[in-house]
Amino acid sequence: MRDAKALAEYLRQRAPLTSVVSYPGRGPWGNNRYPGNCSGYMLIDLCATFRPGHVLDPMEGGGTSREVCADMGILYSGFDLHSGTDSLRDPIGENYDLIFWHPPYHDMKLYSEDPRDLSRAGSLPAFTALLRAGYWRFFELLAPGGRLAVLMGDLRRGGRYEPLTVDVARLDRQHIEGIIVKIQHNVSSNSTRYGGTFVPILHETLTIFRRPPA
Ligand SMILES: C[S@@+](CC[C@H](N)C(=O)[O-])C[C@H]1O[C@@H](n2cnc3c(N)ncnc32)[C@H](O)[C@@H]1O
Repeated sequence: MRDAKALAEYLRQRAPLTSVVSYPGRGPWGNNRYPGNCSGYMLIDLCATFRPGHVLDPMEGGGTSREVCADMGILYSGFDLHSGTDSLRDPIGENYDLIFWHPPYHDMKLYSEDPRDLSRAGSLPAFTALLRAGYWRFFELLAPGGRLAVLMGDLRRGGRYEPLTVDVARLDRQHIEGIIVKIQHNVSSNSTRYGGTFVPILHETLTIFRRPPA
């Protein structure tokens, strides 16, 4: 068993991110039964690449990023509506080096009955309006040179393809730094058939925006 310092050093040594990533296992971080939970390895590689001093996850869900930051010895602040914070409106701190934002993918999974829940936005235009509001709110909370990384997936509704990843990429052309394609594993919704030719969605994107250094 490694001690905490050795574990943090070991995790920081992982290879930096590239534009395509694939994590067949999610690792032991966070609640693996939380709906829509993400792989801890992606958070580790994000932190190993950018070396943030203080990380914010405004929609932390099952706590994946919280536990990754604890193991990497990184200062962390995390919030979620399920623990009483509406991150689009309530105070959630400022001056972050890295904000990891993993919002609901519109109504693909419904997280609560709370009308402030992004998964309860209703129409797609209402959801994209909240996405835009959240983006600019979180961007303003970055320290100079800080990064905002948004994890998003596309979905199909009634045979219609909704490119939410494109909506994210187009939020802010001025500050976009890169798009990472993350291969998805064990995707159950891809077993649904809508007739005709069907191309299963097997990826999400992590879009990284950077606030200019001072
Ligand atoms: C995709 S999940 C995040 C999963 C997380 N990355 C994990 O690994 O477990 C999206 C989260 O957004 C939260 N959420 C939705 N609207 C919110 C809001 N207005 N303020 C704070 N959290 C919100 C939901 O409660 C849910 O936990």
